[in-house]
Amino acid sequence: MTTERPDVIKESGGLELPPLGDTWYIAGWAPEFEPSLPVSRMIAGEQMVLYRVPGGRMVGLEDRCPHRWAPLSLGRVEGEHIRCMYHGVKYGSDGQCVEVPGQDLVPKTLCVRSYPIVEKHHLVWVWIGDPAKAHPSRVPDLSVMDEPQWRLYQGVVEYKANHALISDNLLDLTHVRFLHERTLGRPVATVSGTPSGPPQVRAEPRRLDNGVRAEGWYPGSRIIAIPKSVPDGDLWMRSDYIVPGILISRGGMYAPGTATECEGLPPGTQHVPLSDGLAIHAVTPMRARNTRYFYLQGFRVSDAEKDETDAIWQVSQEAFVEDLKMIEAQQENVALDSPHRMGGIAADRGLVMFRSLMKRLISDRN
Ligand code: FES
Ligand SMILES: [Fe+2]
Repeated sequence: MTTERPDVIKESGGLELPPLGDTWYIAGWAPEFEPSLPVSRMIAGEQMVLYRVPGGRMVGLEDRCPHRWAPLSLGRVEGEHIRCMYHGVKYGSDGQCVEVPGQDLVPKTLCVRSYPIVEKHHLVWVWIGDPAKAHPSRVPDLSVMDEPQWRLYQGVVEYKANHALISDNLLDLTHVRFLHERTLGRPVATVSGTPSGPPQVRAEPRRLDNGVRAEGWYPGSRIIAIPKSVPDGDLWMRSDYIVPGILISRGGMYAPGTATECEGLPPGTQHVPLSDGLAIHAVTPMRARNTRYFYLQGFRVSDAEKDETDAIWQVSQEAFVEDLKMIEAQQENVALDSPHRMGGIAADRGLVMFRSLMKRLISDRN
């Protein structure tokens, strides 16, 4: 790709990665974009204005009026157009100038870059890279969240950290017992009255074409995200972490003995889960050391009352703050760019696999 992104560092200390080119990145949850209200977003070092036109379609343009460089995000949406509210120059949704107040001539050179945009799976996606390659079929498949069974909770937070550090965190769930010992990692009273902690994460990661998968059985385990009303059983979890930084995690509680019956293999269609849970997390690089982090949790509606899932969501949000504090502090150390090498442990296997895939794609596409 040819876009210059001077704002984005190449790589530092081996831990920070530049954003990937020729990729759909998440710009926001669909409800973040109200009709006719321009929103400024920095994505992969590119400042853009996003707005929803009458009828609901999303438009994405460079957020800099070429006249005197005022932000178009401070402008006014007029139908499909946006007017810069400094001196009134108006642009179409393709980025071409359509009106200059006080003159008949509309210079062809007055134009801004326009970005391909797709709205899919409750999210607005922006293409970063060569527009000719921006096909909607390349949007990562998050159709699982469109299934009607879910009660969904979603949020977004901005990190002062490189996106790769957040991906590392999501690719190594051994941190749950320690970093989240007061929230997600604390023991849960089971139906039988025996306290149970989160499972020791032992699932061996393996490479997918577009990411890394870790899946496994945790017999007799309970996690805070499973409503109390769900009977005890064997927990099955599958987590896919896919390019450019999206975790899709599905967990189900099955009748006791299912893990043994399946001999370690995934549950078959004949095994009906007692409960079902969904988690989706995603990172969008803004600048080299700023990232937008999107998270979603889904509970099967029939599994628990809303009060209970509200309470679980509250605990999860406290855990996300624990991640944020740790990763931002880690980023400060990383920014010192020490000549020392980092140590490796077995739990790093998944993140090492994902990093090597990302580095290859970055070198191919950027
Ligand atoms: S800066 Fe936009 S019209 Fe002048
Ligand atoms: Fe975490």
